[in-house]
Amino acid sequence: MAAVALFSASLLLATAANAQSTFPETPLASKTFAYPDEIPYQVDTDVGLIRGTQFGYNLCNSTTEGDSSLCQTSFLNSLDDFCLWAPSEKDSLIADTEGEEVAWCTKAGRGTRIIPDGALTGVQFMRTSAYVQVIGFIDQTKINIQDGDYGGELDPHGADLRGNPMGGLVYSTAFGPDNNTYTQMIEWHNFMGGNAFCFKVCDPSNEHAADYCQHVYDRIGCAYNAPNNAQDKVFESCEGELQDYPGVYTGDDGQTTTYTQPAESLGAITTMPYQPRVPASSNCVSFESTALYTEAAKASGSSSASSGSGGSLEASSTGNSAAASGSNAASMLRISGDSVAWMGFFWVAAAGVMGAMTVFA
Ligand SMILES: *[C@@H]1O[C@H](CO)[C@@H](O)[C@H](O)[C@H]1NC(C)=O
Ligand SMILES: *[C@@H]1O[C@H](CO)[C@@H](O)[C@H](O)[C@H]1NC(C)=O
Repeated sequence: MAAVALFSASLLLATAANAQSTFPETPLASKTFAYPDEIPYQVDTDVGLIRGTQFGYNLCNSTTEGDSSLCQTSFLNSLDDFCLWAPSEKDSLIADTEGEEVAWCTKAGRGTRIIPDGALTGVQFMRTSAYVQVIGFIDQTKINIQDGDYGGELDPHGADLRGNPMGGLVYSTAFGPDNNTYTQMIEWHNFMGGNAFCFKVCDPSNEHAADYCQHVYDRIGCAYNAPNNAQDKVFESCEGELQDYPGVYTGDDGQTTTYTQPAESLGAITTMPYQPRVPASSNCVSFESTALYTEAAKASGSSSASSGSGGSLEASSTGNSAAASGSNAASMLRISGDSVAWMGFFWVAAAGVMGAMTVFA
């Protein structure tokens, strides 16, 4: 008995020693930098950890901008001004590149890659009292995601707390006094894949930022993490009521339950005990995509984007569109079971390496 106990104790110690080479001294979500003045070349300066070193950089400027940018500083401001995390090399799987994604943005001027003309086929921007989000449809091959990849989730935590991508920073003007004041987003999640995406950033001054931007439900997609009524071919900016915290739902009996996502080792998720509630939205204003996303055309010298409309955006109000059915394609495909739940794979692999790490997510 004593020998067995001793043996387990030394195993535990060995595991703990191993685990030390996995984690950074400071988790990514605890590193704060004012934009643009305090941005370092890289925010992840750890060396000798299991996942290696930061792939790109955070200090981005006119010399880094364009097709080969490895900028890992991202933004989510408005319908016409946001970035998505996607691979640096053509034909990549999100699963293989989660730690290395780079920023692909609608606007030039921040040293990133620019989302190519025509890639975005429908986008909804939603402003609420606790977060803003963009939900959309995209030809993902135009931002280097392999055709057919159902992708996965990026967030500033990850199993080893270095984030996915490692060292990725996100800023927003949505919670500041004006459109020139950038606030660092401490809690955010971005699902990419299935020719769709959702990206939510939570107001850091809201006490429930971590709840609304929950990052543990990485296998159940946008429909559950960012319930929405976005539609392909529609580009609109809306205001909305608050979602339930991802994973938390209220049954017909009024009882509130927190869903537990099963381990990847138990196989594909084929059934869910609840349907997420899509919150009401209002004051939606819709636009022509050609009026919103003009940077790629400019960069390539094409004049197709100049509409001669004198620069004023053609807007039309669609009124209230609180549909209860909406959810984007990626989400439902991910839930149906034949998607590759890549974050789960990563999780299992990392847990194997790290030993007794079950408390994490
Ligand atoms: C521009 O960004 C690159 C890459 O991060 C960096 O090496 C360079 O110092 C920056 N230039 C300026 C003027 O900040
Ligand atoms: C900030 O930008 C948004 C979207 O472009 C615009 O609707 C809003 O009026 C701007 N706010 C200010 C204070 O300029």
